[in-house]
Amino acid sequence: MQTSVLRAFAFCILLLYAHADFNETALRLMYGAVEDWVHFSPRPDISLACRLGHPLRIAYFTRHSGTLWDWIAVSTHLGAPWTRVNQGLYQPGYGVNTTMSNKIWQDMGHLLCHVADIIVFSDTIPDSRPLLQGGCTTPLILQVTNRFDYGITPSDQDAYMTIMKDAATRPNIWWVVNNPYEELYITKRGVKLPQDRLLMLRPVGVCMLPPPSLENLDRPRVALVQPSGPTHLENTFIAPWIRSNNLDNYVRLYRQHYGGPTVLAHHRGVITVPYQTSVMKMYEGLNAGAVFILPSPAFFKNLTMSLDDSRMVFCCRDLLREYPDSWQLYFDWYHADFIDSHILYDSWEQLRSIIQEREATAKMVEAKRLVGMEAMKRSRERTLNGYSSLYRAVSQQACELNKQADVLSQGYRPMVP
Ligand SMILES: *[C@@H]1O[C@H](CO)[C@@H](O)[C@H](O)[C@H]1NC(C)=O
Ligand SMILES: *[C@@H]1O[C@H](CO)[C@@H](O)[C@H](O)[C@H]1NC(C)=O
Ligand SMILES: *[C@@H]1O[C@H](CO)[C@@H](O)[C@H](O)[C@H]1NC(C)=O
Repeated sequence: MQTSVLRAFAFCILLLYAHADFNETALRLMYGAVEDWVHFSPRPDISLACRLGHPLRIAYFTRHSGTLWDWIAVSTHLGAPWTRVNQGLYQPGYGVNTTMSNKIWQDMGHLLCHVADIIVFSDTIPDSRPLLQGGCTTPLILQVTNRFDYGITPSDQDAYMTIMKDAATRPNIWWVVNNPYEELYITKRGVKLPQDRLLMLRPVGVCMLPPPSLENLDRPRVALVQPSGPTHLENTFIAPWIRSNNLDNYVRLYRQHYGGPTVLAHHRGVITVPYQTSVMKMYEGLNAGAVFILPSPAFFKNLTMSLDDSRMVFCCRDLLREYPDSWQLYFDWYHADFIDSHILYDSWEQLRSIIQEREATAKMVEAKRLVGMEAMKRSRERTLNGYSSLYRAVSQQACELNKQADVLSQGYRPMVP
């Protein structure tokens, strides 16, 4: 009996909310100034959710499955209702320019800006340009993952940096860098990031690939994943070197689609040469128990100086030149938080021993596996705690902003900085 009374009570409350009548005069005052109804999509009124302390909705913009998998884990941790927008579906090219950004803003600005209470742009940051140029006032988190100015042409750099410098001063724009190199990279381009709206939150290393069949894998062999680009050192030197040294029996060569971190974790190490300061593969791999076999810091530095980009593609030779003593602080593969997880070699001779001496290295690899998994566990906890505090701060801001009129409810107004 009692539950049915409660249910009836709850239903009445629902009806009360549903029954709030409208005042036409008030509506005309609010919306009468809209001129462009074609492009009009209003900002949702979240005042009730704010009063009741309900979690606010997030739209996660990404084209990249790796970042999306990570986000699935993060948003589940947050308990946040969210959806994903793939910007590649409405904005085909990378590095959208000023003209295109204005056009996208004009066509879809209201819709994109109001698609959720909080917006996150991930993968390539130029994709946020239409909303930045348009002056979207929804709290917007730029999650920088190696691709701060990806696809921006040289002639467009100045215009792009002007927008980003301005964005860094806007209170509703928040910055998450997913590795320690990004802040340095962005700062060097003249954009001063706001320290009170900036967090370094690494990937949690979640991979959603279906479980691979592990039947034909042998733990005694090390793995080498050959990247697709012809100028990776794995392709220009290491794979041919393995063949010419008759090491084929010790190394399993994979092409790009190797089946994900679980496959890597079933090998006696994974030979890898960093081509960026951090990649999702590292966090996913460590999390799954993969052990990476890398050139030692000194050997890596030597290689980048002896070989140019045509033989060993690498994003950041400037970093090693300009910060000869501290570059590892910005380089997650070699960062103090992770370096003990890897097996390091100082020369090709040493790599050959690691590959050939199965018994001697097997024990070391098992120990490293645990070190790596522990390192990821600590890193993951920092990341999740960081997102929790960010979500709280940004939700609070969304609720504050909701009390003010949204510039966009006044109809379309192009705003080019
Ligand atoms: C309707 O809204 C107008 C404008 O806000 C206000 O002046 C008027 O008193 C309202 N009418 C009622 C019946 O609440
Ligand atoms: C901007 O990008 C569009 C689409 O890629 C292109 O057609 C146009 O020529 C570009 N405009 C400028 C000024 O570069
Ligand atoms: C790299 O190491 C080799 C062999 O030890 C050495 O001969 C060479 O001078 C080094 N190159 C650089 C740029 O440090």
